[in-house]
Amino acid sequence: MNIEKVMVIGAGQMGSGIAQVCAQAGFTVILNDVKDEFFERGLATITKNLARDVEKGRKSEDEKAQILARITKSTSIDDARDADIVIEAAVENMEIKQSIFKQLDAIAPAHTILATNTSSLPITEIAAVTSRPEKVIGMHFMNPVPVMKLVEVIRGLATADEVYEAVAEMTKHLGKTGVEVNDFPGFISNRILLPMINEAIYALYEGVATKEAIDDVMKMGMNHPMGPLTLADFIGLDTCLSIMEILHEGLGDSKYRPCPLLRKYVAAGWLGKKSGRGFYVYE
Ligand code: CAA
Repeated sequence: MNIEKVMVIGAGQMGSGIAQVCAQAGFTVILNDVKDEFFERGLATITKNLARDVEKGRKSEDEKAQILARITKSTSIDDARDADIVIEAAVENMEIKQSIFKQLDAIAPAHTILATNTSSLPITEIAAVTSRPEKVIGMHFMNPVPVMKLVEVIRGLATADEVYEAVAEMTKHLGKTGVEVNDFPGFISNRILLPMINEAIYALYEGVATKEAIDDVMKMGMNHPMGPLTLADFIGLDTCLSIMEILHEGLGDSKYRPCPLLRKYVAAGWLGKKSGRGFYVYE
């Protein structure tokens, strides 16, 4: 399976990061979003990241220009007709993802692999709406994509071995380490990370300590780059809640119940860094 042309659906934080690392690795990239302005915002983030690399002497101006030249704009899903792989990084909503995959299945050539960057929705359920479930796979990048080395490569129930191999190879080519994961709620990353974050929120809710103390313990005591409450704000509290709900429902164990304080913050619109306020306030 020869992958040369990559289409990325969604030019947000994750999609623009994925487009950047693909273009850096020499792939031709079609970056798709529903509106011009979303594409432009994604491209601006990529340009800023590359400018920083130039400033730090990690890339030349010429390399930066070549990487940017490999990225083309798309506002039509019909552009999937030119892609060898589509990596979907749209919103974390099953109905929306299924609708996108149905359209991609109808448009993309038979050889095209359909990958999703979902952080926790079942790959098998997304694959089931297509006529090619053997070509559907999870490619879960970590945020911030240009910095984090890991990609979870998730096999749906029907994913073919050759599709897994092609995606594992592509991941290596992107300079990332891929780990093979089977399709269970939260995969590995969020099955372990989110209960830790949820527990940190319980510790705050029960008055065990202040938010700063909880974060300091995990940062300085366990050498995590960010404390769990800071990380929750960085991920987005709505995303954290949605992942906890998927774990709770999918695994049926009360140990995954979302903390009431997390629900309260989300209900208040305190979604973390992106909304200006979560556990901390952002200017
Ligand atoms: N895009 C590109 N580069 C970025 C970046 C971004 N959004 N954010 C930081 N960087 C780069 C910086 O430019 C900097 O590069 P230089 O070496 O050129 O200076 C480097 O990363 C380090 O950044 P900072 O010095 O500003 O800050 P830091 O040392 O605290 O690192 C961090 C920032 C990499 C985000 C670090 O705090 C970290 O690793 N945090 C944890 C991240 C994490 O856990 N991610 C997983 C989230 S969970 C997930 O993604 C899965 C899910 O489904 C929810």
